[in-house]
Amino acid sequence: MKPFTSDSIVLAIESSCDETSAAVYEGATLKSNIISSQLVHTDFGGIVPELASRAHIQNIAPVVQAALRDAGLGMRAIAAIAVTQQPGLAGSLTVGANFAKGLAVRYGLPIVPVNHIEGHIFSAFIENEDIHFPFLALVVSGGHTSLFLVESFEQYSVIGSTRDDAAGEAFDKIAKLLGLGYPGGIQVDTLAREGNPKAIAFPRGMMREDHFDFSFSGLKTAVRLYVQEALRQNVVLSPEAVRDICASAQEAIAEVLVHKTMKAVQRFGVRDIVVAGGVAANSRLRSLLSEQAARHNVHVFIPSMKFCTDNAAMIGCIGREKLLRNPLHSYDALTFRVGSNALRAKYRP
Ligand code: KG4
Ligand code: ZN
Repeated sequence: MKPFTSDSIVLAIESSCDETSAAVYEGATLKSNIISSQLVHTDFGGIVPELASRAHIQNIAPVVQAALRDAGLGMRAIAAIAVTQQPGLAGSLTVGANFAKGLAVRYGLPIVPVNHIEGHIFSAFIENEDIHFPFLALVVSGGHTSLFLVESFEQYSVIGSTRDDAAGEAFDKIAKLLGLGYPGGIQVDTLAREGNPKAIAFPRGMMREDHFDFSFSGLKTAVRLYVQEALRQNVVLSPEAVRDICASAQEAIAEVLVHKTMKAVQRFGVRDIVVAGGVAANSRLRSLLSEQAARHNVHVFIPSMKFCTDNAAMIGCIGREKLLRNPLHSYDALTFRVGSNALRAKYRP
């Protein structure tokens, strides 16, 4: 095994949920990042784990081939493989991890297993090296909503997490209640632009509590009761009423996320905030956070959309950092197992 240097080439693979993705780094340069999103779940209003694993099995080889082709490189140029180990759907993770292990055996390569959430936390470094430790990372996706205090590439802790639904899950469930299809976040965002965010006073879960945890299930219930009440009174929701519900619910989610993030900025004295995960695309979250951060002279880094949603570039980005910091032989075991565990390094004040 050749030593891993800052010029070495890394193949990264991500398959934790419903995106099959592969990326290639040559040194710090991202040469390719192929993402194949599964459409098979659209009719089910959510991800069907068994269908996700099957789609990964079909997609993984072509996606890896496309990433190598786009990078203009063959497998023999690769020095190491980074692959998502956890958290995620067990079947989906298994496909990516076993494909990586197969390649590692065939080409005699080390594998660095990467935590998916770590990938999101450090995804802002793909396009920006100017982020200063310590920083706060708000990871908001369909499966996760957590705030991290990040002290270095190797040291970070969870300072708060959702106690029930993730923010993206809340967006998706509200969209489903309104018959807007899946995934619903983008539809709610689009309709909210024309709606009144003050029309309905939906609850701001745990906003005033002195901790950094979140709760979005109360909001989901409030929207459901609001819609049911309209049905009970035989009122058909007008397009305008739907836009107002979207705007008001989105405002509640954005306000809570921004309030807790800014409270954490003050508590921990950080100057930089990273927002990652699919919900980072939300226009109201972006504008409200930028506004508040500017007022406190804090920088907000939000990766481009293709690096916010699940992608292998983010796995390669932190995978490289791990490879540069630890000797290669610490990664040559093929015995790592996938798992659905979230990050557990909880911050204790
Ligand atoms: O990170 P991601 O692609 O997948 C994981 O959940 O890991 O995030 C997907 C989530 C979905 O819940 C989707 O509805 C939400 O991100 N999302 C949005 C927007 N775009 C995607 N939520 C609110 N506003 C958006 N513009
Ligand atoms: Zn994710």
